[in-house]
Amino acid sequence: MRLHGKSALITGAARGIGLGFAQAYVAEGATVAIGDIDLDAARAAAAEIGEGAYAVHLDVSDQASIDAAIAQVVDRTGKLDILVNNAALFDAAKTVDITRDSYDRLFSVNLAGTLFTMQAAARQMIAQGQGGKIINMASQAGRRGEPLVLVYCATKAAVISMTQSAGLDLIRHGINVNAIAPGVVDGAHWEHVDAMFAQLEGKPKGQKRAEVEAGVPAGRYAQPSDLAPMAVFLASADSDYIVSQCYNVDGGQWMS
Ligand SMILES: NC(=O)c1ccc[n+]([C@@H]2O[C@H](COP(=O)([O-])OP(=O)(O)OC[C@H]3O[C@@H](n4cnc5c(N)ncnc54)[C@H](O)[C@@H]3O)[C@@H](O)[C@H]2O)c1
Repeated sequence: MRLHGKSALITGAARGIGLGFAQAYVAEGATVAIGDIDLDAARAAAAEIGEGAYAVHLDVSDQASIDAAIAQVVDRTGKLDILVNNAALFDAAKTVDITRDSYDRLFSVNLAGTLFTMQAAARQMIAQGQGGKIINMASQAGRRGEPLVLVYCATKAAVISMTQSAGLDLIRHGINVNAIAPGVVDGAHWEHVDAMFAQLEGKPKGQKRAEVEAGVPAGRYAQPSDLAPMAVFLASADSDYIVSQCYNVDGGQWMS
């Protein structure tokens, strides 16, 4: 029960990695807001987890929605101790085919969404005066470029940079800001990515997925449960002296 009595908000937690984190946080004693743009899916996820989880509508690209979601968490639990900035969008295209629309959507959700949700959470945590924990989801894609993934890679590199700056600024308030860089994680996200690469690289469906898996030193895709222990650690008092770091949890894909 390392998160006993804690109030957490996880963005984009209606499915995938965020849902896995929500399950782990509730198991460790936290009350968790499943914040997602898809409220029906968030409600279903909260119902699946049961006591300790509840759904909150949240569009991280909309400031009013961010403010309303934080207010809802505080109304319900009296405070906010932990934020996981997990919501993100993916897109792939050749450099010469990238559109303004794709750029704007990904930067608005992956970067501005992470920044302004972090800002709103930090304001609340500072007002509470008890510190807090903020965990940003980066990616191995933020550690290096990929030929067809320029915009997503750039947003995740920026999340790593932003984690460093915010961590250095907010630790004076006892708020630890750190990040997790997953490699490849099984789930709906990868079905979408595989379908995109099938089109871009002219590969049969499923081939890109298999090629990527063959390249993972650990020999398989991660499950959200492979990442959850790091997310629990970074949300717990065990990480009080850890500031501005980004941890690779990727089966050996990247070393830094
Ligand atoms: N799956 C992977 O292989 C992988 C690898 C590295 C990093 N990551 C990162 O981990 C995080 C979670 O990935 P995932 O694969 O579980 O994602 P996912 O696509 O399965 O789920 C994302 C969730 O975010 C929600 N969402 C989308 N836009 C939103 C918005 N504007 N506001 C609020 N919620 C919104 C979606 O409804 C969905 O429930 C992301 O930051 C992703 O970039 C994933």
